[in-house]
Amino acid sequence: MSNTVDEMTERMLDDAGIGPGMRVLDIGCGPGMTTFMLARRVGSAGHVFGVDRDAQMLQVARQKARDTGVTNVTFIQGGFDVRFPERGALDAVVGRRVLMYQSDAAQAISQLTDAVRSGGVIAFHEHDMVEISDGRTALPLHDQVRSWLREMLRHEGANLNMGFQLHSALSAAGLAVERVRAEANVLTPTASYPVGSIIRAVLPRLLQHGIVTEAAADVETLDERLAAERTAANATCLWEMVFCAWGRKA
Ligand SMILES: C[S@@+](CC[C@H](N)C(=O)[O-])C[C@H]1O[C@@H](n2cnc3c(N)ncnc32)[C@H](O)[C@@H]1O
Repeated sequence: MSNTVDEMTERMLDDAGIGPGMRVLDIGCGPGMTTFMLARRVGSAGHVFGVDRDAQMLQVARQKARDTGVTNVTFIQGGFDVRFPERGALDAVVGRRVLMYQSDAAQAISQLTDAVRSGGVIAFHEHDMVEISDGRTALPLHDQVRSWLREMLRHEGANLNMGFQLHSALSAAGLAVERVRAEANVLTPTASYPVGSIIRAVLPRLLQHGIVTEAAADVETLDERLAAERTAANATCLWEMVFCAWGRKA
């Protein structure tokens, strides 16, 4: 995950008012990138519960907590139906790139609202694969790599346009939406994004779905080839849109 994306998450957390002393749930925490971001933010007076259905991801997250001496986090295996002993005890729920994997995002969110106190915030950061280009500059390699990712997500039943649906999902879950924000992840001849490492990380899934061969992906040279394509065309490219939205429980 690039710093740019983490910066967008941090801005969302700032603007949604998530801060020191809060008890926060990170739903779909994966290996804990957002959980540790939240742990720094809530400090020793607060606590973060990282919840994920994937035991392996949680193992990585717990090891990281041990290695870095972070004690204000608890990782729990579970889903949106996770139950907390005290009803209404959480100040906030945060999720990043997790709603896109739910067949009914509004219903998933509404499963969490019971655990949040009145006035608490529920905030999601979701990527959207909407295609935006200047319409004049051909960037075939960029298009091809994005099409691999799109196809992979489609195979996995993910919602590629979750960003555009955040407002309706939060509203349908009974929350008063405070803000929807979209920013682009932008590549230029001088600004890159670690596409090579993303493709390397998802290569087993791409191979499994028969989307690309290892030779065609050629991850070792991918970033170099993408940069060369942008430089040759002197092009700016919107890689993806990142949506952040949050609402409050009445
Ligand atoms: C793309 S990863 C994002 C991880 C992390 N939020 C981040 O931004 O770095 C999506 C994560 O959501 C988890 N996930 C998806 N659906 C879930 C569900 N219904 N309940 C719990 N975890 C879920 C997956 O196991 C995976 O770890």
